[in-house]
Amino acid sequence: MSIRTGSRLEGKVAIVTGGGSGFGAAISKRFFEEGAKVIVGDINISGGEAVASQNPNNVFFQKMDVTKAADWKTVIDLAFDRFGRLDILVNNAGTTYRNKPTVEVTEEEWERVFNVNVRGIFLANKELMPRLIKQGQGGSMINISSTGASRPRPGLVWYNASKGAVSNATKGLAAEYGPHNIRVNTVCPLLSGTGLFSMFTGMEDTPENRAQFLGNVPLGRLTEPEDVANMCLYLASDEGKFINGAEMVIDGGKCI
Ligand SMILES: NC(=O)c1ccc[n+]([C@@H]2O[C@H](COP(=O)([O-])OP(=O)(O)OC[C@H]3O[C@@H](n4cnc5c(N)ncnc54)[C@H](O)[C@@H]3O)[C@@H](O)[C@H]2O)c1
Repeated sequence: MSIRTGSRLEGKVAIVTGGGSGFGAAISKRFFEEGAKVIVGDINISGGEAVASQNPNNVFFQKMDVTKAADWKTVIDLAFDRFGRLDILVNNAGTTYRNKPTVEVTEEEWERVFNVNVRGIFLANKELMPRLIKQGQGGSMINISSTGASRPRPGLVWYNASKGAVSNATKGLAAEYGPHNIRVNTVCPLLSGTGLFSMFTGMEDTPENRAQFLGNVPLGRLTEPEDVANMCLYLASDEGKFINGAEMVIDGGKCI
């Protein structure tokens, strides 16, 4: 599908975590196509550098681990030092364990999922909000959650619970920071056909297993990274200026 490009984020500066792969790479690309300066933050150096190399004048890779407070300071300092401002943060970095009976989830898996998916946003918020309030020009934080936040299914209980925390915290943050014109929203995608299919479903990625899953999706397909990127673009741009605390579900009607 060809996508028109333009200037919907002209003059804005964005950080996209987990921008070196999957949804985050698509979000970063959509943002620079629309005029933003983008900092891709990821532990995945080769992926992050590959995304930055698509547009070296406007996209910059910063190695960061979202579970480390010091890395948040570094990446936010980078935005202000290099560009003099920051407008958008997409908390996209996330992880899961492979779908399995919940009693088999290990403490290590539980801790990794909550550390990356929830603690990452907790740390982001502590570093970001005082800086945005001081800047005094509002802002947009977008947290990538999941349809599983409100529609949990067997086998991914603690992953879905971590996304439930993301969606719930987003609403609280939206209420708390709205008076500063800082908007906080979630994007809740359905399963995507990326390499994570078998992790999320516990099934091999075969045509038969996909057909089984797609039977419940009115629009008859999985999420494409550009579906997520387009929603993030809307929420990041001034077009979304009255959208706050919303859960934008991207699921082709699956959760009806
Ligand atoms: N793929 C799906 O089906 C699906 C569905 C719903 C929601 N999501 C969510 O969308 C987001 C992106 O998923 P994706 O499918 O693009 O996955 P992905 O694995 O392709 O990308 C995730 C990126 O996050 C990075 N990352 C992981 N831990 C990190 C850390 N501690 N610090 C910094 N970066 C880290 C990885 O290196 C990777 O580049 C995640 O939050 C995921 O939970 C995915």
